[in-house]
Amino acid sequence: MSAIIKHIEWDGKILKVLDQKRLPKEEQWLECERVEDVCRVIKDMNIRGAPLIGIVAAFGVVINVKNNKSHGIEKAINEAIALLSQSRPTAVNLFWALERMKATYTRNKAREDVVEVLEQEAYKIWEEDIQISEKMAEYGVQFVESGDRILTHCNAGALATGGYGTALGVIYKANQQGKDILVYVDETRPVLQGARLTCWELKKAKIKYKLISDNMAGFLMNQRKIDKVFVGADRIVKNGGFANKIGTYSLACLAKKHNIPFYVVAPSSSFDLNLENETQIPIEYRSREEVIFINEKPIAPVDSDVENPAFDVTPPELVTAIICEKGIIKPPFTEGISRIFNLGK
Ligand code: MRU
Repeated sequence: MSAIIKHIEWDGKILKVLDQKRLPKEEQWLECERVEDVCRVIKDMNIRGAPLIGIVAAFGVVINVKNNKSHGIEKAINEAIALLSQSRPTAVNLFWALERMKATYTRNKAREDVVEVLEQEAYKIWEEDIQISEKMAEYGVQFVESGDRILTHCNAGALATGGYGTALGVIYKANQQGKDILVYVDETRPVLQGARLTCWELKKAKIKYKLISDNMAGFLMNQRKIDKVFVGADRIVKNGGFANKIGTYSLACLAKKHNIPFYVVAPSSSFDLNLENETQIPIEYRSREEVIFINEKPIAPVDSDVENPAFDVTPPELVTAIICEKGIIKPPFTEGISRIFNLGK
C-alpha cells in the first residue's frame, strides 16, 4: 500500500489512531480497545473524513466481535453497528462500511474462521480505499495543468482516508508528475481542518500552499487568482448533488459566478443511491462550543446562541465533474451516475 501518511494501526486487538484534534501541534496516538472507544474517536472527531470514518468503524465491529464472541458473534456485530451508526450521520461511508461488515458475516457465518474473515474484510476496506484513491488521482490529474492555482476546502487528504486522499490525492498525483501547482487552503471554520490538517499534509509533501480564511475565496476568484476548485464529498446522491464540509456550497456558487471549474473527488463508497437529491441528505449539527471556542479560548461571548451545521449541500448544476474510481462523471449527472453504477439494469 502506498499510503502517504500512516495514521491508523491495527495489532489484531487494539486500533491505534493518530489524534487529528491535536494536529499540527503534536502527533499523539489514541488506543481503542472497545467499540465504545471507536465510537468516541469518531464522534469527537479525533479521526474524521468520510472514508476514514468507514474504515475505523469496520475495525470497531471487529473489536466488538473479538471482545464478545463468547456471547455470540451476530449479537456483537449488531450491537457494534447499532452504536457506531449513531456516531456521525452525514458521511455515508460509515453506513456503507457497517453494511459491508454485516454482509460479510451473513455470507460466512457457517465458517469456523468467521472472525478472521471479518478482520480481513476490515483490512480490505482500508487497503481498497488507498488503491481507489490512487485510481481517482490518476483520473483527476488530467484536469490539472502546470501553473494551476487550486483551491481546496476542509481536509480531503491522506488523513481523511485510508492514507492517500480524494481531492488532495489529485494534487499529490499532479505534484508527483512534476506539475507546478499552488494550493489555496481554506481554513475551514469552525474546526479548522484546512488550516490544521491540509496545511500539515501539504507541508510534509513539500507542495506549495497558501492558507486563507474562508471569507477570502470570493475576492481571490474575482482577482483571477484561482483556476480550479477540488473538494471531497461525504455523500453524493443520484442527481449528482452532494454534501461536504460546511462552506463548500458557498465556494461552488462563487466558482460558478467566476466560471471556475469545480471538481468533486469521491469513491463509490461515498455515493448514496437511495436518495434522489441532495436536500434529502441528513445534516449533522454539532456543539455550540466548536464555534465559540478556538483552542479552548472563547472568541465570542460564551453565552452566545450558535447554529453549527457541520455540512452543507451543493446542487449538481454547480459541479463541473465528479471524479470517482469508476471513472469521470459529467453532466447530466443523473444519467452519468446511473450508467457508471449500472442502475436500472
Ligand atoms: O467533519 P469532517 O472533518 O469529517 O468532514 C470532512 C469533509 O467534509 C471532507 O471534505 C470529506 O469527508 C471528504 S474527504 C475525503
